[in-house]
Amino acid sequence: MSLKDSQEAVSEYLDQHAHLASVAMFGQQHTSISVYSTSTVVRAPEAVVRGRWSPTVNGFIGEELLLNHRRSGRDLGMQLGVSRYYGHDAVLSSVHSDLREREHGAVELPEPRRLKTGLTSAVGGRRSGRRFSGRAAGLDELATVLWHGQGVTGELPVTVQDGAATVALRTVPSGGGLYPIRLVVLAQNVKGLAPGAYEYQPHGHTLYPVHPTPVPVALSDLLWTADVEADKVSFALVYVYDLYANSQKYGDSGLVFALIEVGGIAQNVHLARTALGMIACDQGGYDKQGLEQFLGQDGMSRHVVHFTLVGHGEV
Ligand SMILES: Cc1cc2nc3c(=O)[nH]c(=O)nc-3n(C[C@H](O)[C@H](O)[C@H](O)COP(=O)(O)O)c2cc1C
Repeated sequence: MSLKDSQEAVSEYLDQHAHLASVAMFGQQHTSISVYSTSTVVRAPEAVVRGRWSPTVNGFIGEELLLNHRRSGRDLGMQLGVSRYYGHDAVLSSVHSDLREREHGAVELPEPRRLKTGLTSAVGGRRSGRRFSGRAAGLDELATVLWHGQGVTGELPVTVQDGAATVALRTVPSGGGLYPIRLVVLAQNVKGLAPGAYEYQPHGHTLYPVHPTPVPVALSDLLWTADVEADKVSFALVYVYDLYANSQKYGDSGLVFALIEVGGIAQNVHLARTALGMIACDQGGYDKQGLEQFLGQDGMSRHVVHFTLVGHGEV
């Protein structure tokens, strides 16, 4: 077989020699060299054995991040330092975060339900579910999931130059109280809510439409999954990271902190929907660029970093 053979000829050849696919897979997984093997002094075992054959063609950004992100305020990249929470300059970034929210045109959400399910029961009962029934979610269910993921739960008094102020605190911890992750709802089948994209505004406990007139989104166009019937999902949650919201203080570590925070929010979302008797499944395979374009995020300073489908399961 030559390299000039057509795709059909190659597929036919591979069908007849199925073992070659496994050999290629093994080679890709275990024998390729790190893209950083020539350029970094850090040679963690994984970095040496994983990677790509053609580093110049396709970088391995996750590995680059882990090898290069800084954890010490003595390194370049830390603008305000990791160690000071109460410094004037530090708290000035986190006070008055409510002023970023918009009231006019926002959709008010019902009060979140106070869930009585015990913590051990919710943690132990949480399971990813992929068989959605297509039953609509109630607006109160959406509100309850959002509040548990991002709701405002308290206030921290701080001192700033012109006197006293407060930092509004939420259900999930955040480095410096900066809350760089925003939750966007892609409503597909929620009672009382026009299908479309909405940003959750935690201070007002409201939804703000991403488009002036909500534009319905077909989840099946954004997802690369064969395991979920996307049109039966009630709503998806998109986690958007605003890089400047925390990297201004934490430099390169901002991204790492944000990903930690995404995990906390997602876990609260899962525990709340478990207590509500709903199913959900995180998704790693989705059209990041298409989604960012749809949501008006530039994919440079504001990234979609995670995606969770939520709805009712088949009984
Ligand atoms: C970041 C992340 C990405 C995931 N991506 C997918 C996915 O694309 N498709 C899928 O079916 N499940 C996905 N999952 C769900 C995992 O498959 C699931 O959590 C894992 O199998 C453990 O099962 P459990 O959640 O029921 O405990 C993802 C989970 C996480 C945390």
